[in-house]
Amino acid sequence: MALSLHTPLCDELAIEYPVLAFNHCRDVVAAVSNAGGCGVLGALALSPEQLKTEIAWLKEHTDKPFGIDLIFPSNNPISITREQLMAMVPQGYRDFVDKIKEELGVPEQCYSLDSLELGIGGSQETQWEQLSAALDAKPAVVAAALGFTKEVIDECHKAGVKVVTLVGNVKNARRAAECGVDIIVAQGTEAGGHTGRIGTLALVPQVVDAVHPVPVLAAGGIGDGRGLLASLALGAVGVWTGSIWLTCHESPLVDWIKDRIVESTDEDAVLSKVYTGKNCRHLNNKYIQLWNGPDAPPTLPMPLQNFYSPMPIMLSTEDPFSMGIFEKPELREWVGAPAGNVVGLIKQRKSARQIMYDMMSQAVQILGQE
Ligand SMILES: Cc1cc2nc3c(=O)[nH]c(=O)nc-3n(C[C@H](O)[C@H](O)[C@H](O)COP(=O)(O)O)c2cc1C
Repeated sequence: MALSLHTPLCDELAIEYPVLAFNHCRDVVAAVSNAGGCGVLGALALSPEQLKTEIAWLKEHTDKPFGIDLIFPSNNPISITREQLMAMVPQGYRDFVDKIKEELGVPEQCYSLDSLELGIGGSQETQWEQLSAALDAKPAVVAAALGFTKEVIDECHKAGVKVVTLVGNVKNARRAAECGVDIIVAQGTEAGGHTGRIGTLALVPQVVDAVHPVPVLAAGGIGDGRGLLASLALGAVGVWTGSIWLTCHESPLVDWIKDRIVESTDEDAVLSKVYTGKNCRHLNNKYIQLWNGPDAPPTLPMPLQNFYSPMPIMLSTEDPFSMGIFEKPELREWVGAPAGNVVGLIKQRKSARQIMYDMMSQAVQILGQE
């Protein structure tokens, strides 16, 4: 079937389909780019050196455009050590977390995850080093999540790289447009990961109107050709997606998490501050429920919430598993992954190429182009 759904975004980024796909894994990013979309590498937890390695790998595995996603939380300190951050964690909070750790038998070494000092927990100095490594690769876009500054945008433009930013309300969309952001992602509360309070259907057209003529991508709850077409109808030039790639064959998530996502319903991805201190939509699990209980201390603001909580029991990628935490299957109930309400739409595991093909062919069929 010849698929065609060309929007101005396709010309702007030199891609075939107006679909951007966020993922932390280079294999997924390359697979999406090779399938005609634009994969975007979530690089917040990579050191500048690791980021260079990932970029070199991507360049070997795709000659198509890809993006790099970094975060620039404006309230992160200019420069700070891990010890200084640890000292800011209140004792009551430590006691609560230590108790969970003891009860679950989480090994000590789980707390020395240096990568947490980057990205969310990192200093602004580190963010600039990451940005410099990203810009050297001349990606199709740099995405600046959780805030951005005019300096970051200017630096990207100096390097000839377009800047994307994610917003959850019209106020931040206007600010992004005024600062010169090239593409604005209007992300509804349905989205996996950090998210706002307004639904995609209401948010996207309001952002489109507010920032015209800056192009807008819709995000949050988009899982198939219907979501893609609806987004275009709302005035977006394409979509920015995350959750639908979690279960693809190229994704490094362990099998049982992928199975859980496939079995999930619309109500299984919930908002919680327990992972980062900001509202983040995540697969529900016992860890979230415990923090919702009466004995839990208040969550700490970003970046502190990361530093003392047993991060590994919430992560579902390979590293924590190699520490042997999940030899006890009962601990699986304590684990989830960031994921959006769209998980209820994921019914089977597929390759990234197949996900893209199915989305595009459904959209084209609905349009009656087939
Ligand atoms: C597992 C996961 C991790 C995410 N991590 C980040 C991140 O580090 N940076 C970022 O800009 N967005 C992150 N997001 C949000 C995505 O970029 C995207 O905006 C969101 O997934 C779109 O909504 P959807 O999940 O309904 O497709 C993450 C999403 C998921 C599902």
